[in-house]
Amino acid sequence: MPVIDQIAEFADELTTIRRDLHEHPELGFQEHRTAGIVAAKLSEWGIEVTRGIGGTGVVGVLKGTRPGKTIGLRADMDALPIHEQTNLPWASKTPGVMHACGHDGHTTMLLGAARYLAGNPDFAGTAVFIFQPAEEGLGGARAMIADGLFDRFPCDEIYGMHNAPQDDPDEVGIKKGPAMAGSDFFDIRISGCGSHGARPEDSRDPVVIASSLVQQLQSIVARNVPPTSPAVVSVTKIHAGDAYNVIPETAELGGTIRFFDTSVGEMISARLRALCEGTAKGYGVEIAVDIRNTFDVLVNDADLSDAVLDAAAAVVGAGKAGLKQDLVMGSEDFADMLRVVPGAYCTVGHAGSVPVHNPGYVLDDAILPVGASIYANLVTSRGAAA
Ligand code: NI
Repeated sequence: MPVIDQIAEFADELTTIRRDLHEHPELGFQEHRTAGIVAAKLSEWGIEVTRGIGGTGVVGVLKGTRPGKTIGLRADMDALPIHEQTNLPWASKTPGVMHACGHDGHTTMLLGAARYLAGNPDFAGTAVFIFQPAEEGLGGARAMIADGLFDRFPCDEIYGMHNAPQDDPDEVGIKKGPAMAGSDFFDIRISGCGSHGARPEDSRDPVVIASSLVQQLQSIVARNVPPTSPAVVSVTKIHAGDAYNVIPETAELGGTIRFFDTSVGEMISARLRALCEGTAKGYGVEIAVDIRNTFDVLVNDADLSDAVLDAAAAVVGAGKAGLKQDLVMGSEDFADMLRVVPGAYCTVGHAGSVPVHNPGYVLDDAILPVGASIYANLVTSRGAAA
């Protein structure tokens, strides 16, 4: 069964909207133009609009003609600090900023669902269209929640989706339970004692200490986390020194922790702090540690995951909508919304061949009516659900 007929009829207009957003990408919390277009379209279709939630967030509310559940649908709007190298006619016109994760497509798919439902309001319940800023590590979901998103627009269920160029076109996947990793970012600053490079005995060398610490941190997952519980500690930054003959005063490390069980994440943080404390004592230096939680573990409700597959199967066919088994070590801040409201997050494959976050990434516009139809089906099916 194909996409919803009426959505197929305005698919070209969705492509036009998507390519315009793509040409004018905006970084997290700076999505002013994007939010303006979203708000104008929703208003044009007679949907009640609230702007400025969590910064540049936009929420549209559409009541069906019959009573039922309130179904939240969320799309992210932000781009990435990447310089586009696709040479497409609609490539980014803003140097150094690119929709390299397809959030322009997510925003357009949700607009497509909103337009269809506004024209076909004979459904049960209420649709809440949530256009979120700053998904790419800046905490847009948390900002909207802190700004009262679910107090002002209480939802019974919430759904989101992400395009997947690595999957076959129209392949819809979802994993029940924990699906995407929780994530912390950390910074470690070692304050040692500098000296002449030829006189190490005068120093407390932060470079040697930093090297040792990188190795020690690799023991946390290997020796503390059960092998059955996937987790990662990666040191991704190491900065120290400016000269060949100077042992520097300080060294800085940074990196990320990933986990699927919050208690494992907390244990890793505690071990990281303890290793830094012990290292500081052992070497006679000061080590400051800052660990910040950036994403929660994304947990899909099992029953509502089935509901997503049903809504998707009606569009792409049952053979193309299925459960996934693999955990994804990447993170997604829709996880923060799923901690407040039960729901599920799926992937939708398309004909792109370059991975997301790459300067050559291309979103296939054929995905737009597919995503819009799945979103619309979720409202019509779940709004009427018991
Ligand atoms: Ni993304």
